[in-house]
Amino acid sequence: METRAGDPGAFARFDLSRVDSPSFVVDLARLRANLAVLADVRDRAGIKVLAALKAFSMWRVADTVGEYLDGVCTSGLWEALLAAEHYAGGTGKEIATYCAAYKGEDLPEICRLSDHVIFNSPGQIERFRGVLDQAAGHAYSVFDIGLRINPLHAEGEVPRYDPCAPHSRLGFPVDQLEDAHLDGVTGLHFHSLCEQDFAPLYRTWEALLPRIERFLPRLKWLNFGGGHHITRADYQRDALVAFLRDVKARTGCEIYLEPGEAVALDAGILVGTVLDTHWNGMPLAITDISATCHMPDVIEAPYRPAMLGEREDGEAVRLGGPSCLAGDVIGDYVMPDAPAPGQRFAFLDQAHYSMVKTTTFNGVPLPSIWLWDSETDMLEQVRKFGYADFRDRLS
Ligand SMILES: Cc1ncc(COP(=O)(O)O)c(C=O)c1O
Repeated sequence: METRAGDPGAFARFDLSRVDSPSFVVDLARLRANLAVLADVRDRAGIKVLAALKAFSMWRVADTVGEYLDGVCTSGLWEALLAAEHYAGGTGKEIATYCAAYKGEDLPEICRLSDHVIFNSPGQIERFRGVLDQAAGHAYSVFDIGLRINPLHAEGEVPRYDPCAPHSRLGFPVDQLEDAHLDGVTGLHFHSLCEQDFAPLYRTWEALLPRIERFLPRLKWLNFGGGHHITRADYQRDALVAFLRDVKARTGCEIYLEPGEAVALDAGILVGTVLDTHWNGMPLAITDISATCHMPDVIEAPYRPAMLGEREDGEAVRLGGPSCLAGDVIGDYVMPDAPAPGQRFAFLDQAHYSMVKTTTFNGVPLPSIWLWDSETDMLEQVRKFGYADFRDRLS
């Protein structure tokens, strides 16, 4: 998979020895710039934009997210609790929760915390109708019920990241949608893009509209999910704004977008250190960054993260992590300086999805979390993890 991010931005002048290793460093100024772009689209289009916590949930910057966006979208009870505690509690910010399948015991709390509770199938709505009716009876619990549909229009490059791939479990196939399925439902949701431009969204809507047109008069809102690479420099933002204004005017629905990656695009790096070097048919270096523990998408997607200051010419070294996994390999890089033990380096664009997916497999330490403001040069260690963080998840 090709990643089209990887702009070093202000990190080009960040001294990597200012932080411990490994460390995520998030640039507050870049985050603000991304949020300002999203808020501008929101304002010009007259829609609402929620930040997807699944992609980036460094709650230390929750207030910053709240300064720009309308709230957050969450994936279940724990993210909804985090949203209520840090992102939206009593502030008028919205929480939209979608889960591929809810557990009955979680639902009353999710209904209390969320403004939109979005289901993956009409079957779940029906099964939990009693719980939902009871939750709606409480004055403190005001929520809309939504249904995620599968537009049955694939735009994804990689099946693993394509919710419209054949036999996908995500979203109710729109060709099966009937009036009875929308009993009590006031919004439709779809999420079918991944790091994509405007054209795939437009084509998806064109394919979807004839199939949902007859249901629109009974709906209050439409949520077009995430996967919109809006904050990438060459994204077609004017076309998106015109499209969203048009859809809103024609459908009479409030329109929501819930980008995750776009919020934190190019806003963070992962700093590591070379621990050892040797040779096996090519130069090798073992580092304190593990693909499997710290950047699992490198293996899962798979993709090759961009390196800060990577040179175009020279001998490539294969970088791998300290774990036992033979496949704990990050990739082949011509490093800024010849690799030697103790040398620092950094991978670009690691604030989204890497930070939320880390594990301590093999007892590999979790990266620290630092906040840097490239405009003021403020640098603060937000969190350092220790042995107890590893131990306490295991027994
Ligand atoms: C339902 C839903 N909404 C929003 C997002 C955020 O997508 P992205 O980070 O690609 O913008 C995702 C990502 O998987 C998702 O599943």
